[in-house]
Amino acid sequence: MLEKRILLIVSGGIAAYKSLELIRLLKRQDIAVRAVMTGSAHEFVTPLSLGVLTEDQVYGDMFDLKEEREIGHIQLSREADLIVICPATANIIARMAGGIADDLATTILLATDKPVLAVPAMNVRMWGHTATQRNIARLGKDGVDVMQPDEGGMACGEYGPGRLPEPPDIAERICALLNAPFDPALAQARGPSAIPAGPLTAQPDFAPDAKRPLHGKRILVTAGPTREAIDPVRYIANRSSGRQGFAIAQAAAEAGADVTLIAGPVHLATPPGVIRIDVESAREMQDEVGRALPADVAIMVAAVSDWRAAESAGQKIKKDGSGDVPPLELTENPDILAGLAQHAKRPELLVGFAAETEKIVEHARAKLERKRCDWIVANDVSGDVMGGANNAVTLVTAEGHEAWEDAPKDVVARKLIARIGEKIGQSE
Ligand code: C5P
Repeated sequence: MLEKRILLIVSGGIAAYKSLELIRLLKRQDIAVRAVMTGSAHEFVTPLSLGVLTEDQVYGDMFDLKEEREIGHIQLSREADLIVICPATANIIARMAGGIADDLATTILLATDKPVLAVPAMNVRMWGHTATQRNIARLGKDGVDVMQPDEGGMACGEYGPGRLPEPPDIAERICALLNAPFDPALAQARGPSAIPAGPLTAQPDFAPDAKRPLHGKRILVTAGPTREAIDPVRYIANRSSGRQGFAIAQAAAEAGADVTLIAGPVHLATPPGVIRIDVESAREMQDEVGRALPADVAIMVAAVSDWRAAESAGQKIKKDGSGDVPPLELTENPDILAGLAQHAKRPELLVGFAAETEKIVEHARAKLERKRCDWIVANDVSGDVMGGANNAVTLVTAEGHEAWEDAPKDVVARKLIARIGEKIGQSE
């Protein structure tokens, strides 16, 4: 049987060292590997390591005349049965999706007619970014096979999807694409490593954190402002950016919860793994909150408009030239938080937010009692909290209160989720 050959493109991410393990596994499956490195891959692995393991020359510089004369980029792709990009960074994925050919790796990818497998690995936020998700969808439509990254602890200390899948899983996928038999026992066998000693083998293994504090819990989050129509073109709203609520939804998802995020009109990307429902008005938000029940925890971060126009005009209200202003009568909106506290499916833990400018604890405690929720996270909005990046909050519960220091909203979010984990989370 003819030996199968892959062309492995290694791009520059912390997971690049795992490509060495992949080469070792593939060779055990009798698959020949030839490696191409991007410029930034050199920051993570050396051509020497790749060369020793592939037992071949390592390619990288498109304008290296010797390389081009002996084996041009077309030839590199022609001699392979499959091209694998591992790890595939957000950057190379973006360049592929855009059809950019500005180095040897991307030139090969644009010139090839061979099947292509991309194995992404990147920070959780980069993976979840709308641009990356758009690029991944583009690659799928272009016929590239894209593996889903694993979830777990990241080199940067964050948690979520974005980790490179384990090398045996990648090897198995490659074998499937090559129609080659895959021997899992062989792949898993931990024989003496051919990886040269040195800093490479000292790379940390960011193993997934097995215990996630909110695993299996359903968490409902409201976020952003509401928009209350006056007529088809005008509305009442507020300056809420939604950032704190989105950060909480993200932190909850990272802690393993099943998260439903009910969002007013905001310009924010949906955090990875979160189910998002967009609404406009308070009444729509209330309906969607009801539909999202049951939930173990509800965190009501939305800045719900207290009032709406008593009657929303069906047509645009016209200036009649007389100088008289039309009357604008307001009516009160339903209090979604207070309503949830009385609901037959009241979540076990109900958390409200309160924006205060003075007597923060006193006002927050009054709100906690009036709305019958369990916790109030009170923010001091005397500064630029609305729409700002930071938040200084005081957590008020039936037992007492504690002021947290001013911190970025994602830090506040993770701290709140950690507290919720302590209160209702599972301990194994
Ligand atoms: O009464 P106040 O607007 O200060 O209460 C703030 C808390 O109540 C927040 O958790 C907010 O999401 C929630 N709220 C609500 N429905 C309203 C008003 C506020 O759920 N109509």
